[in-house]
Amino acid sequence: MQGDAISQALSATPGDAQRGRAIVANRQLGLCLLCHTGPFPEERFQGNLAPDLAGAGARWSMGQLRLRIADAQRVNPATIMPSYHRVDGLTRVGAAWRDQPLLTGQQVEDVVAFLATLRE
Ligand code: HEC
Repeated sequence: MQGDAISQALSATPGDAQRGRAIVANRQLGLCLLCHTGPFPEERFQGNLAPDLAGAGARWSMGQLRLRIADAQRVNPATIMPSYHRVDGLTRVGAAWRDQPLLTGQQVEDVVAFLATLRE
């Protein structure tokens, strides 16, 4: 981790934006649209508790997006956004999630790859 970013990918295989989009829109897996709106015309119900995801790829670098998905609390300790893949340096913490983060490293990379495409 460097500043407000994780520069190193969390998986060996590069993220897949299309898989990432599916995770973000998925109500069981990502839950993102519980709080966020975004460019998902097919999704009727979207949250209004968090910034619109549109433009996230223009506002943030890949590393910044990675940290915000992996562990939003590192950016804002009071955030309501879950830490999807909490990391401490490179070691996961949080006893309840130690062996089972909400999203695997690969899934985080997929989500980051998708968000990076949201440039407006
Ligand atoms: C429980 C509500 C909640 C859920 C679920 C949630 N977020 Fe968030 N998210 C927030 C809030 C609130 C913020 C505003 C930052 C803060 O709280 O400090 C935020 C911030 C962000 C940001 C930075 C926004 C910006 O451009 O300023 C991104 C990107 C993001 N979330 C992506 C996601 C993704 C992707 C998911 C699903 C994997 C997700 N969030 C799930 C509440 C949520």
